[in-house]
Amino acid sequence: MRVKVTKKVSSPGQVFLFGEHAVVHGQPALATAIDVRTEVSGEPLENDRFVADAEGVGRAEGKIKKSGETWSIEEMTGDVEDLSFVTKVSELTYNHLQEARGLRLEIESGLPPGSGLGSSSAVTTATAAAVSTVLDRKLSRDEISQLAYDAEVEVQGAASRTGVNVATYGGFLRVQEDDRRRIEGLSEPDLIIGYTGKYANTAELVAGVRELKEEKPWIVDSIIQTIGKITEVGIDTLEDGDLRKLGVLMNANQNLLEGLKVSSPELRDLISSAREAGAIGAKLTGAGGGGCMIALASGNVDEIASAIEEEGGEPMKAKIGSEGLKY
Ligand code: MEV
Repeated sequence: MRVKVTKKVSSPGQVFLFGEHAVVHGQPALATAIDVRTEVSGEPLENDRFVADAEGVGRAEGKIKKSGETWSIEEMTGDVEDLSFVTKVSELTYNHLQEARGLRLEIESGLPPGSGLGSSSAVTTATAAAVSTVLDRKLSRDEISQLAYDAEVEVQGAASRTGVNVATYGGFLRVQEDDRRRIEGLSEPDLIIGYTGKYANTAELVAGVRELKEEKPWIVDSIIQTIGKITEVGIDTLEDGDLRKLGVLMNANQNLLEGLKVSSPELRDLISSAREAGAIGAKLTGAGGGGCMIALASGNVDEIASAIEEEGGEPMKAKIGSEGLKY
């Protein structure tokens, strides 16, 4: 008898509207969930098999073993590396719930891995939720966010709480040091995301800014502080719904990110093509160096998307302030 396929769960991707990099140095940043999502569905298996199948990424399979009170997924074969976030968070969820069973996970995502749109946070949060659904156990959002964070730390050595928070709770998140708070009542203009197709190496880019700051604190410190001010004004501007001013702030933030040397020729090309096609403002989002840019539209979404595509980027239309984990 074939067992029922569980309900799909999904988590959003995300963009930084303002403040990336400056946030690493104590300034505020504003991140938001986008309506480009990762969907995970789980199906229980009648044995100890663990199967993860991610469209366009790969497939891996292993065996669930218990030793003492600890579950682990072992004897993995297939695209093990590419599915390491999925396997790790499943294992952590089994251990957190002190229960495991055979499981097949199917993952579909509109978020390219390594694009800077929070694909790993989306997949880890949605997978933790899907695993608990298969076990007929309900985890709180805080538990899911923690499991996802722990999995990211274990897989890549470090992680930001911003990623898993936005993926879990959605909406708009103001982040400063350890203070992360949702901001309600902001306007939700249409964005066009342009993916350069180039992997953004966050750790290297963050290290580059740190080095530049040590070399030239007299200029870099003030760039970082000004980005922080732009974030604050940006939040007020989103509250007022003044899109023209928002565009000016995005352009100013981009110029300052250029000063931190985290932009790239590909990003610059997509940003100028979007502006020429009528975007009110445009900037890189996330770590830079590749990854994605965002453009603010005022009704001319299709023209901006075509301009990004003609320039060699992959355009995605996105709504911001989107719902978090659907579980
Ligand atoms: C990268 O997504 C955003 C950075 O500000 C790093 C971080 O906040 O973790 C560059």
